[in-house]
Amino acid sequence: MAKRALITGITGQDGAYLTEFLLGKGYEVHGMLRRASLFNTDRIDHIYHDPHVSGSNLTLHYGDLSDGTALRRVIETVDPDEVYNLGAQSHVKVSFDVPEYTADVVALGTLRLLEALRDHVAHGGGAVRYYQASSSEMFGAAPPPQSERTPFHPRSPYAVSKVAAHWYAVNYREAYGLFICNGILFNHESPRRGETFVTRKVTRAVGRIKEGLQDKLFLGNLDAKRDWGFAGDYVEAMWAMLQQEKPDDYVIATGEAHSVREMVEMSFAEAGLDWTKHVQLDPRYLRPTEVDFLQGDPTKARERLGWSPRMSFAELISTMVAHDLDLAQQERTLKQAGFKTSARGAAASDKS
Ligand code: NAP
Ligand code: GDD
Repeated sequence: MAKRALITGITGQDGAYLTEFLLGKGYEVHGMLRRASLFNTDRIDHIYHDPHVSGSNLTLHYGDLSDGTALRRVIETVDPDEVYNLGAQSHVKVSFDVPEYTADVVALGTLRLLEALRDHVAHGGGAVRYYQASSSEMFGAAPPPQSERTPFHPRSPYAVSKVAAHWYAVNYREAYGLFICNGILFNHESPRRGETFVTRKVTRAVGRIKEGLQDKLFLGNLDAKRDWGFAGDYVEAMWAMLQQEKPDDYVIATGEAHSVREMVEMSFAEAGLDWTKHVQLDPRYLRPTEVDFLQGDPTKARERLGWSPRMSFAELISTMVAHDLDLAQQERTLKQAGFKTSARGAAASDKS
C-alpha cells in the first residue's frame, strides 16, 4: 500500500519540491489548494494529471488554514499517514502590513490543523506523523550560530506567529503523544522562489537588466546576513524527520552565511553586470525591526538524520540567474514580436 501524504501549502515553493520528492518515493500525495481568482497551481502543473484521463497519484482539495471545518474535512477524507503543514502567509515584510491575518493563518491555522489531527487520531485515524514548518526567523535577534538550543527572539508578526505555531506543535506532541516534528529551516531558495523574496527579486532583475527590459533595482537593507540553501535539498530533511523512531525538532541549514550585498554582487557578476550601476536603496523595503544575522548550526540534522545540503551557495545563485536569464529572454522575444509584456507581478513586488 502506498503511503498517503497531505500537504498544506502545496502550491508554494516547498510544496512543489516536496510533492515531486514524495511522488518519486511512491507516495499518494494530497494537497490543499486555496481558491484564487487566477490559477495558483503554476508550480505543480507539470506533475498534475487530470484524474478523468489517467490514474493520478496527486489529488487537490479545496481548503484554507483559516477554515477549521474544511481542515477537518480534508483530514477525514484523505486519512493521511503523514501531514506536512507548509501553508503560511510567509512574507516577513508583508506581515507588518497584515499582522492579524498572518497570526490567523500561521499561528491559529496550525492550531486548527493540530486540533483536527488530534481528533482524527483519537477516533481511530491511525498513527499520523506531522511536520510543522518552523522558521529560523523565530531566532530573530538571537546571535549566531543558532541551533535547537538557541532561545527565540522573534522580530516580526510573522516570526511571533511561527513561534506560537512551533510551541503548539511541541505542546500537542507532549500532551497527546502525537508524532510531531518541527523543522526549523533557514532560508532556502530556488528558481521557484516567490518573486518578492530578496534572492529571486534580485535574479529576476538581473535577467531583465541583461535583456534591456529594466535598468534599476530598488532594494532595502543590504547588510543583513542569511544562511541560504537550496529548497530541493531542504524538503528531503522534512521527510527524513518523519521517518525517525521518535519525533523531535531539527535545525536545517548550510552553516554558512552571506550578506544581501554579497548575494547581489554575485548575482550581477554571474551575468557580467556591475551591480553598483543598477541597485538603489528604497527605504520602503526596510523593515520596522530587522533580523540582522542568521547562520544555522545543522549538526543535529547531520548526525541524527544523515542530512547535509548538496547545493552550494555559488551553485544556487548560478542556477537561479541562469533560469531568470532564460525567462527574460522569452519576455524580450515576446515583446519584440509585438506582444504586450510586463514584469510579472510588478505591482506586488513593488511593495516588498
Ligand atoms: P510560499 O512559497 O510562500 O508558499 C506558501 C504556501 O502557503 C502557498 O501554497 C500558499 O498558497 C499557501 N497559503 C498561504 N495562505 C494560506 C492559507 N490561508 N491557507 C492555506 N494555504 C495558504 O512558502 P515556502 O517558501 O514554500 O515555505 C513553506 C513553509 O515554510 C511556509 O510555512 C514558510 O513560512 C516556511 N518557511 C520557509 C522558509 C524559506 O526560506 N522558504 C524558511 C523557513 C520556513 P498560494 O499559492 O495560494 O498563495
Ligand atoms: N524581500 C526583500 N525585498 N528583502 C530585502 C530587500 C527587498 O527589496 N532588500 C533587502 N532585503 C533583506 C531583508 O530585509 C532581509 O534581511 C533579507 O533581505 C531576506 O529577506 P527575504 O528574502 O524577504 O527573506 P526573510 O529572511 O525575511 O524571510 C524568509 O526566510 C525565513 C527563514 O529565515 C521567508 O522565506 C520566511 O518565510 C522564512 O521563514
